[in-house]
Amino acid sequence: MTEPLQPHVVGTDVERVDAWAKVTGRARYAYEQPVPEPAHLQVVRSTVARGRVTEVDARAATALDGVLTVLTPFNAPRLRTGHDAELEVLQSDTVWFRGQIVAAVVAETPEVARQAADLVRVEIEQRPHDVAFSADRPDLYKPEVVNPNHPTDTVTGDPDTAFDAASRAVDATYTTAMNHNNPMEPHTTVAAWHGDDDVVLTLYDSTQGVHPLRDAMAAVFGLDPEQVRVVAPYVGGGFGSKGRPHAHDVIAALAAQRVEGRAVKFAVTRQQMFSFVGYRTPTVQHVRLSADVDGRLTGISNDVVELTSRFKEFAEQTGLPARTMYAAEHRRTTHRLAALDLPVPSWMRAPGECPGMFAPEVAMDELAEACGLDPVELRLRNEPERDPDTGLPYSSRNLVACLTEGARRFGWESRPRLPRARRDGDWWVGTGVASSTYPVLRRPGSAAASVRYRDGRYEVGIGAADLGTGAWTVLTQIAADALDVRLDEVDVRIGDTTLPRAPVAGGSSGTANWGSAVVAAARRFREKYGADPADGDEYTGSDECGRKRFAAAAYGAQFAEAHVNVHTGEVRVPRLLGVFAVGRVLNPRTARSQLVGGMTMGLSMALHETSVLDERLGFVVNHDLAEYHIATCADVPSVEAHWIDEHDPHLGPLGSKGIGEIGIVGTAAAIANAVHHATGIRVRDLPITNDVVFEPNLTQGVIR
Ligand code: MOS
Repeated sequence: MTEPLQPHVVGTDVERVDAWAKVTGRARYAYEQPVPEPAHLQVVRSTVARGRVTEVDARAATALDGVLTVLTPFNAPRLRTGHDAELEVLQSDTVWFRGQIVAAVVAETPEVARQAADLVRVEIEQRPHDVAFSADRPDLYKPEVVNPNHPTDTVTGDPDTAFDAASRAVDATYTTAMNHNNPMEPHTTVAAWHGDDDVVLTLYDSTQGVHPLRDAMAAVFGLDPEQVRVVAPYVGGGFGSKGRPHAHDVIAALAAQRVEGRAVKFAVTRQQMFSFVGYRTPTVQHVRLSADVDGRLTGISNDVVELTSRFKEFAEQTGLPARTMYAAEHRRTTHRLAALDLPVPSWMRAPGECPGMFAPEVAMDELAEACGLDPVELRLRNEPERDPDTGLPYSSRNLVACLTEGARRFGWESRPRLPRARRDGDWWVGTGVASSTYPVLRRPGSAAASVRYRDGRYEVGIGAADLGTGAWTVLTQIAADALDVRLDEVDVRIGDTTLPRAPVAGGSSGTANWGSAVVAAARRFREKYGADPADGDEYTGSDECGRKRFAAAAYGAQFAEAHVNVHTGEVRVPRLLGVFAVGRVLNPRTARSQLVGGMTMGLSMALHETSVLDERLGFVVNHDLAEYHIATCADVPSVEAHWIDEHDPHLGPLGSKGIGEIGIVGTAAAIANAVHHATGIRVRDLPITNDVVFEPNLTQGVIR
């Protein structure tokens, strides 16, 4: 394994190296990339959820001045099919979901493209659709694996017998809502088709990974990866929705192929983001906990139901936290899916762990109540010695430190033991806690980096993506330390497939994967050329692959204060506090931003976010930011993120665990638990809107 980095500027509060470029408008996002004489694309979407396109009449659209072409299922260039049905855009007449792209207009201006798109007449033979998500459907099925490649079901011992025998137990059903990612910058693709050049297709794209996007596009267009170039120096947020290619990438490239020689720009609208760039499945989670009188868990189970589309499967790994979080002799997790006439779900911040932490962590609060124990104490009593799922020792865990440090900082001690004990005017006041975890998904050897010495400066290149998270900055810090030079002697270049290969900015693993490659390449460069290289000296290489002998994950403890209006049920959260164990923090400034951002998204999930699906239309009707509510500044008066000083020698040269997703995990449970403490009302469904507080789901089987 690559030796640990000796940190000098790593770990310090370095300002964003891209800050000036961003605030002065010089940082170019995908849509702003200069291409000569671009054409503009607008799509036509299906107005029914299931059927068959019988005819596309584009005469009125084509007659419009400035329209270059109209693509339809009957005339679009053919793609390689059979790999990824989501990317088979305009390849057949089948309509799988409402909002599917069924035609596209390319025109001289965005305005003409939009006007022409409205003039395209698409005839669809409609068939009855089914988008009714329910855990009681008779046609639920068991997927082969859950995202990305985990076993669908796990069982150890006999949790049902343990449940029947237990003196303390919780049996309840919890639900989380369908959610849609809403990064500040909607998805954008600028595509140029160059005919028979070495590079056939260039994409300027708002993506979380230039190389993964390149490979997927090459496969669907039947090109070699080297024939596709993807450029993405700046990205205005992704949160998973830009982690994989979606239909917008393909339609832009198809259009560019049709109007070869003209680059085609496609900026997905906010409303369109609710139909073809992924979303988080709703979940129904049936959780059972059993324990002895002292609160020591004997059994844990989480039986999960969620949805997928009929044309492509995505199975969110919601059961994972229940597999690993606490010690218990008897454990089970299952996943079952309803395949519906809907778009395919995808990654959304901390897929699996985020919804999968909500239900078990509220259940733990219910168990604490059943046992007459403080909820922090209940968690402390159930610390496993080894990872219950794999039996491996932890590289480090420190959940206990997060819980105790969090309790101290939050002022947990003064908390009334019983619920509904504090009232401040018209508001009940309560506090809640939940644990969080997110796995370390680093893959040693997955990235490469280049180091070149030129004109007295070090140029470090890697195809990484900065989603606004700080990759530009942190990679500069890492390179400076690995080369043992000052920050201002290093120029980092990212976001281009002409740079060495890099995996996705996802799974909270980007920095660890890319940074390890930068460390390895910098060391080899020094070994080869010494401390005084010649102009033009260059080295490109990868870090070493290692064996995994430990269970490695980030942990956290989330504390929330909730105020609930006694008349309206309105919930406010004036205070969130999280303490995290994330290994080495590479830059406190950007790390804090990510953790606070994650916690804010968790609050948003807890109180606001829900995609309202009209089952008659098969359509999410609140498809804009006026009606899909996300937390704003006024919703989050105080969010504090802290971390413990954690030194984990098993994480590779950086010693970091990843911080992109741990912040959102557990937040919603902490808030639901605080609402219970404030009111005595147990809310098991997200989001916690006013009506839910007064008419909670009371379908739990047993609490004893
Ligand atoms: Mo994150 S949902 O792995 O981009």
